This record gives sequence, structure tokens and C-alpha cells, in this order.
Amino acid sequence: MKNFSRRQFLKAAAVLAVTSACDALPTSIPNLPSLATRTPTPPPEPTPTPGPTATPTPLPPTFGLHERAKVKNLIYGAAMGSSGLADANLKRKFAEECGILVPENELKWSTIRPANDTDKFDFSKADALYNFAKENNMLFRGHTLVWHNQLPTWFNSKVTKQNAEAVLTQHITLTMAHYAGKVHSWDVVNEAIHPPDKRDDGLRKTKWLELLGDTYIETAFKAAASGDNKTLLTYNDFGFELDTPEHEAKRKAILKLLERLKTKKIPIHALGIQAHLDASVIKLFKAEIFRKFLSDVAALGLKIMVTELDVIDQKLPKDVAARDIAVADAYKAFLSTTLEEPNVIAVLTWGLSDKYTWLTKEKPRSDGAKVRPLPLDEDFKRKLAWDAVAEVIDKAKGR
Ligand code: XIL
Repeated sequence: MKNFSRRQFLKAAAVLAVTSACDALPTSIPNLPSLATRTPTPPPEPTPTPGPTATPTPLPPTFGLHERAKVKNLIYGAAMGSSGLADANLKRKFAEECGILVPENELKWSTIRPANDTDKFDFSKADALYNFAKENNMLFRGHTLVWHNQLPTWFNSKVTKQNAEAVLTQHITLTMAHYAGKVHSWDVVNEAIHPPDKRDDGLRKTKWLELLGDTYIETAFKAAASGDNKTLLTYNDFGFELDTPEHEAKRKAILKLLERLKTKKIPIHALGIQAHLDASVIKLFKAEIFRKFLSDVAALGLKIMVTELDVIDQKLPKDVAARDIAVADAYKAFLSTTLEEPNVIAVLTWGLSDKYTWLTKEKPRSDGAKVRPLPLDEDFKRKLAWDAVAEVIDKAKGR
């Protein structure tokens, strides 16, 4: 098994990947067409039976994160903005490292519906990212259909209690119809829980809640299911990894919401964990507590995806070597616990290279040093964070 060739390995991995990604879908649903295209032409030579014993260890260092993930029936990928399509180096790295791509902003309301005309949808930027993903045999994720942020400027003046349900349903069904059968998973509702808003149900006080009441989440999932029945419908949120009262309250409220949706037989298939981790407080991450939460989610029959992973280095020392170690440690602590849960099917980072990260603006350093939150540095070289993700994936059990 030692001299397992790259080609033999890839074939075994591809068989595993297609099986796994399809396993993740609701049982009544046929295979995704886009997944089928990921099966490479089988090589002529005989190959070993795929399975835990067929995994060559250690994997060659040339292997990208998604090739490593495939061996474990996992998917690795990242977010890309449409401006990334102008960077040949970034595109090459995406093709090497990623098995799934999610548009960073291009499927949000403000991008696809900028005009003061509620019927006009512009998918051109998201389509360009979809085409790039497809040309490079990557899966595609959708983010996001219902969110309180990045709504277009016309929203507040045009959407009323009277038309809100129709506007929401139309947005979801039209958007999903545009990509029907082509999207691995859709973030249907994003960031709807916010215990500091002090409602018993933990819901965030948003425009959607104000317009439609607490059933807007159910309405959204039902509309999503009718828009595309070949995709995993996901509830996505952030800020519930740590052992703090705030994160504990959020975990509780999220579980309550997921339980309520499942009890009411609302079509929901997965929880998305954004996981924008902060290296300066990662010591507050307690493996047993988070592991138990993941088991509770899995017990509801839900898959789990890490959807927006990155590690904030804003408050770390300036020294790059020390900073990279701390960032890598945070990746390792979080992912090694998370991947213990067999229902975790995918890991996506929010960007791939430090050259393109929202944290440059969102969490800048006071010393002016560039932030380093992602697996590749700004010259697209693998960092300790890449090593950490690779190591945890390599050590994870197959699913
Ligand atoms: C961020 C994008 O990365 C930025 O470019 C944009 O300015 C703001 O939104 N949680 C989410 C993502 O669900 O949509 C956010 O993306 C990051 C936090």
C-alpha cells in the first residue's frame, strides 16, 4: 500500500466522495447532477477497495485540502468573491485546495436585487463564480436567502406587513429555481438567533421578525424546499463555540429552534456553524461542551457544516511566527473536536488566502500589521494554519 499512486488514490477518493456527498442529501432525493460530474474517468489499472485501510498515510504533501477531505468522505472548500475571478493565482489555488466554493457576497439580496424594482434579479456575478466552480469540478454552496444584513436600499420602503410573505417567498423560489439541482447546500436562514435581544425564543429582533412574526423561518424553509428539492437546507449562525454564558445561551436557543423546526416537520437538513474564531480567547473553547452540542444537533437527524471558518488574529502579538502558531492552534482545537462528530460533512473557510479576507476591514490590527487568518498567506503559500487543517482532516475518522 506504500506505493499507492496518486491516480489510484484519486479514484478511490472520488468513489468515497460521491458516495458521501450523496449520503448527506435527504434520502428521497436522487443524486445531484453536479456531484456526478466530479467522478473522474476511471484509470485502467486495478485499484484497491476504498475504505479505511486503503488510506495511504501520510498523504503526499502535494495533496490539497479537498483531496485529503475526500478520503474521509468530507468536503473542504472556501468562500470566494467575484473579484477573485480576476486573480489567476487565487483561481489556481482554489482548484488545488477546494472541493466546494461559496460566493462571499454574490448571492445576497443587495447583490442580486440592487435595483429599486422588486422583480429584477441579477445573477451574473454569482453565475460567474458558479461557472468557475463547475469548470474546476467543485461543488457550489448558496449563501444566503434570509438575513437581516445586506438587504438592498429599497427594502425598507417597499416591503410591508402586507406583502412581506409574498416578497420573501418569491425571492427564495426564484433564486433557488435559478440554481435548481446545482447547489450542494443553501443557507436558507442566517443569524436569526440573538439572545441579547431578550425574547423567550432567543430570536433576533430583525426586520423579518417585525414584518412576519416568528414563523418567517418556517415560511423560508418551506419555500426553499419547493424551490429545489435536491439541496441541503441549512440554518447558519455564529458565536456559539465557547464556554461562556453568551455562547451557552446561543447554543441553547439554536437547539430550541432546530428542535421546534424538526417537531413541526419543517424541511431543514443541516446546521451551518460559521466559526469566525478569535485566537485571543480560544482557550475558552471547551472540547467536551462543544462536542455535546454537536451530538445534540446530530441527534435531531441534522447534518452539520462548518461554513465560514477563519481565525481572528487582531489581538495576538505582532510577531508573525508566534501569530501563525496561535492561529494554527485555534484551527486545530476547534476542528479536531468538530470532526469527531460523524454528522459533520463539510468544512469551508471564509476565504483561502490572507490576500482576500473580510477581516482586513472587519478586525484590523491596531499596529497596522496585515491580518493572517486563513490557510494560505498573501503570496498563496501554505501556512501553519494549512498544516493544522490538513493534520486534523488526515487524523479524522472516515464518515
Ligand atoms: C461578509 C463578507 O465577507 C464581507 O465582504 C461583507 O462586507 C460583509 O459580509 N457572516 C456571514 C457572511 O454570514 O455573509 C459575512 O460575510 C461574514 C459574517
